[in-house]
Amino acid sequence: MKPLFLTLVGPPGAGKGTQAQILCETFGLGYLSTGEMMRQAAQAPGPEGDQLREYASSGHLAPDDFTNAMVARRLDDMPAGCLLDGYPRTLDQAQALDEQLAFRDWKLSAALHLRVPDSVIRSRLLGRRICPACGSSYHLQFRPPSTSGRCDADDVQLTQRADDVAEKIERRITAYHQLTEPLIAFYTGSSRLITVDASADVDDVRDALVDEISRLR
Ligand code: AP5
Repeated sequence: MKPLFLTLVGPPGAGKGTQAQILCETFGLGYLSTGEMMRQAAQAPGPEGDQLREYASSGHLAPDDFTNAMVARRLDDMPAGCLLDGYPRTLDQAQALDEQLAFRDWKLSAALHLRVPDSVIRSRLLGRRICPACGSSYHLQFRPPSTSGRCDADDVQLTQRADDVAEKIERRITAYHQLTEPLIAFYTGSSRLITVDASADVDDVRDALVDEISRLR
């Protein structure tokens, strides 16, 4: 079977991370999240870690060259295919991804566009809580843990991401509209765009995505 390469395109809080976890398990795909990679790399001491901490917490995008190089280094670990979460986020990144995949004789089969209105995004991000130990994601209202404020998997106290505060959420939404939304036309032009209504509940969004991806195989 040919490796399957897919990307999730959507605004912050669209549910990319939530759906990626389910889809990677369902289709046996590798997972590549630039946000996660940057948050991990930001923990390293030194100037690069300091710079990444600033990007990952401020709501500003990291530079394209840096991000493209980071992804290119990881693609060789994904011979069975992968689901990209949060990459590409600019037209420059989309072109770089096509080039990197073509260089390995692979191609991006589809961009899965999670469409959600800004009002829904705000409430999802303000209510999100994360387990700092295992990375599990919850929502105070839509996906609460069994014990208030504690992770179901390891009972660790849940925390809020540094960029999940009102001012930074607005900056991320603006960056999405200005820099990432043009990808919708880019992938429509090459007949690779699949749009799903991601304002529905988690299971309905999953069913719609599973249905679409199954048709690509
Ligand atoms: P990144 O980590 O990629 O963040 P993001 O794109 O802002 O997306 P989020 O992780 O906030 O949201 P999500 O869509 O995964 O939603 P989730 O499933 O958690 O990037 C962070 C930063 O890193 C960027 O700002 C930038 O600085 C940098 N960066 C990353 N990639 C980059 C790139 N390519 N280039 C340059 N810089 C880059 O869901 C959100 C909440 O909603 C959760 O609480 C969840 O439980 C809940 N929820 C999910 N789905 C549903 C549903 N259907 N119904 C109800 N609730 C739901």
